[in-house]
Amino acid sequence: MKKITIAIDGHSSCGKSTMAKELARKVGYVYVDTGAMYRAVTLYALRHQLFAADGAVLEVALREAMPQIDIDQRLVDGKTTTFLNGENVEREIRGLEVSNHVSPIAAIPFVRTALVAQQQKMGREGGIVMDGRDIGTVVFPNAELKLFLTASPEVRAQRRFLELQEKGEQPVFEDVLRDVNERDYRDTHRQESPLSKADDAIEVDNSDMTREQQTQHILDLFNKCIAQQ
Ligand code: DC
Repeated sequence: MKKITIAIDGHSSCGKSTMAKELARKVGYVYVDTGAMYRAVTLYALRHQLFAADGAVLEVALREAMPQIDIDQRLVDGKTTTFLNGENVEREIRGLEVSNHVSPIAAIPFVRTALVAQQQKMGREGGIVMDGRDIGTVVFPNAELKLFLTASPEVRAQRRFLELQEKGEQPVFEDVLRDVNERDYRDTHRQESPLSKADDAIEVDNSDMTREQQTQHILDLFNKCIAQQ
């Protein structure tokens, strides 16, 4: 059976990577988390003091360093895990420090060019589920199946609020909602590859879906797409 390319884009905190991972596992494809790649470059920049005091990126130094940044994703105990120059950085790239610095890194054209080239190489053979913000529009404009995942800001803020509570934090709902709205604004208004739905992407709004309903819906879309190949 032909192995297709599945591009998944969408807003932050709408369960993109959980859904993408589950789909990859069910259909036996490789999963690539492109957000983790931007996070790994950010971690490198933080460790090498490539941010100025005002949070701006020292772009000349980062550009010089790019050839020394090797990012790789491998399965560890069945989980997709990110390695930076051979070191497992999966935990560290999810921390607050990296989360707070990743937006300006992801907005730099030479960073995007380097990571997009790597992502295209990873997906050359098909049989891949890749998630991010520009997968259906820039990385794989010819992907056979493109999904654009979303949910209302309130639903996403509520999910994030519960996640933070489970981590032992004491979030204020209004702050979390404001953060979700600000991130949406940044993702959709930046100059370089802003988040947008590809014309031929199928929109999946999971505001009112259970995880099981969503999984079934996505599998139906996958099977329909495969039948058309
Ligand atoms: O999905 P995430 O939160 O791990 O993404 C981290 C950051 O990287 C976020 O600011 C969006 C950005 N990103 C991007 O610009 N392009 C991608 N393909 C994936 C993520």
